[in-house]
Amino acid sequence: MQPVALLLACSALGLRGAVAEPPHVVFVLADDYGWNDVGFHGSEIETPNLDKLCATGVRLDNYYVQPLCTPSRNQLMTGRYQIHTGMQHQIIWPCQPYCVPLDEKLLPQFMKEAGYATHMVGKWHLGMYRKDCLPTRRGFDSYFGYLTGSEDYFTHHRCAHIDALNVTRCVLDLRDGEDVATGYSGVYSTELFTQKVTDIIGKHDPGKPLFLYMALQAVHDPLEVPERYVTPYRFIKDKQRRTFAGMVSAMDEAVGNVTEALKSKGLWDNTVLVFSTDNGGQTLSGGSNWPLRGRKWSLWEGGVRAVGFVNSPLLKNPGTVSQELIHITDWLPTLVGLAGGRMNHSKPLDGFDVWKTISKGTASPRLELLHNIDSMYVDIAPCPGNRYGNFSPEFTRHRVSVPPSPSQSDGFDVRIHAAIRYREWKLLTGYPGCPVWFPKPGTTTHPHWEDLNISKPSSLQNNIQLYNVERDPEERDEVSAQNPDMVDFLLTRLQHYQNSAEPIVYPDNDPKCDPGPDGAWGPWM
Ligand SMILES: *[C@@H]1O[C@H](CO)[C@@H](O)[C@H](O)[C@H]1NC(C)=O
Ligand SMILES: *[C@@H]1O[C@H](CO)[C@@H](O)[C@H](O)[C@H]1NC(C)=O
Ligand SMILES: *[C@@H]1O[C@H](CO)[C@@H](O)[C@H](O)[C@H]1NC(C)=O
Ligand SMILES: *[C@@H]1O[C@H](CO)[C@@H](O)[C@H](O)[C@H]1NC(C)=O
Repeated sequence: MQPVALLLACSALGLRGAVAEPPHVVFVLADDYGWNDVGFHGSEIETPNLDKLCATGVRLDNYYVQPLCTPSRNQLMTGRYQIHTGMQHQIIWPCQPYCVPLDEKLLPQFMKEAGYATHMVGKWHLGMYRKDCLPTRRGFDSYFGYLTGSEDYFTHHRCAHIDALNVTRCVLDLRDGEDVATGYSGVYSTELFTQKVTDIIGKHDPGKPLFLYMALQAVHDPLEVPERYVTPYRFIKDKQRRTFAGMVSAMDEAVGNVTEALKSKGLWDNTVLVFSTDNGGQTLSGGSNWPLRGRKWSLWEGGVRAVGFVNSPLLKNPGTVSQELIHITDWLPTLVGLAGGRMNHSKPLDGFDVWKTISKGTASPRLELLHNIDSMYVDIAPCPGNRYGNFSPEFTRHRVSVPPSPSQSDGFDVRIHAAIRYREWKLLTGYPGCPVWFPKPGTTTHPHWEDLNISKPSSLQNNIQLYNVERDPEERDEVSAQNPDMVDFLLTRLQHYQNSAEPIVYPDNDPKCDPGPDGAWGPWM
């Protein structure tokens, strides 16, 4: 009788939370949302809901993601670096026959084992060439969304060229569970996905813990939004930026609506809400990472330093800013820990449980962070100084294709595109991606390479760059010459990681992906 009595006593004293009522977890992932695109970083774009949730939660200011869609989502779902899944190169294109390896156990599977209802709404982008790759086969009880990386916000059509057939297909990519979802043409995806999410919340049995992954299409290109969201931004002269601002406003409203739905259902008091971007802003499509250097697709801070915060009534220190190093791989052990789940995983994680760091402000268990190692890296987007899509000559020779070598005795090959962080230090090797400091929106026209005084830094010529990103978050002051020991140490660490890397998987397009002129993108094998 005694333990039961004690339990009841605790309960009566309001210590119920300590006895185990796992929290609902709602993870909102924005797409291509840049550092300077949110109100709480000083953006000219208004985000009242995000600002309020951030101000009353814990803002993550030293928080990192991967520079691209598939890699960030992959690491969120596996808790493992992309070098450990063979997915260190790029994204999954619609006709590539691969997905996150099927022997990887994903976050929703852990949550399900811990007793959660698991739902996903939005962008998958983790592979779909066969049914086993789909979200519903990988731990989600329900799924509504699109499987590829981008599409039209209203028609939900994705266009892709199939080289082998020499045809361009622009067809539907929208699924309800595993079935093609028709009848949503004309419904703006930010509103559509919000509706689906609030429906799930409305129908949820409050007695069961909820894991809800909302992977918004916003604010990836194409730049599309109902006109009413753009009206407040007449003061923004640049049309791309103005439309983008409207898309951000719609997204901000979406997060407000989801929060309201959780409150009116009575779930909020026991909810942990995480908001994160998947990578830095795309400066070619209205995004801004100012004052950080670079953009999406690069290993500069503008590509990987993320907008993120946590809000929850369960936080012990609401209203604070965390400067502790946190990475997107950390969510898996953190959220499974909160769920009271077991990490009975056969594969080693690269993430850390950072719940105490977030909720109580203790030091992060993470001292080091591998940003990536990609021996096949190519930047496919035009970079200023190179308006026609090819690199300016002085950078071309840094864009080498190095055959992956699982282990190398004479040290790390510094021609390889790679970056690693240790405490305040960040080492970059090879060509990190577009190295421009894109100006603050509204202050100047599109920058020209020659005006930016970065044409020939000696550091880019020897392929090694070191920055103290705590003191110098804009990566202006290259200090490898002054810190040779730190350079050596970090090169050793890169080689250590390269030794543990899986060979890169990046298959050729399979023309059998062709959905035909009236079909839908989806599993073909
Ligand atoms: C592909 O199709 C286009 C027009 O449909 C045609 O102009 C072009 O020559 C074709 N290319 C090849 C390689 O067949
Ligand atoms: C938020 O909810 C309001 C009221 O129901 C609705 O009009 C609006 O479209 C919703 N916004 C989004 C982005 O879903
Ligand atoms: C992990 O735990 C779950 C639930 O307790 C169990 O079903 C599963 O078999 C375990 N897996 C391993 C590899 O131990
Ligand atoms: C580039 O250098 C010139 C000469 O040193 C200076 O006048 C100019 O302001 C610099 N431009 C930028 C964008 O820093």
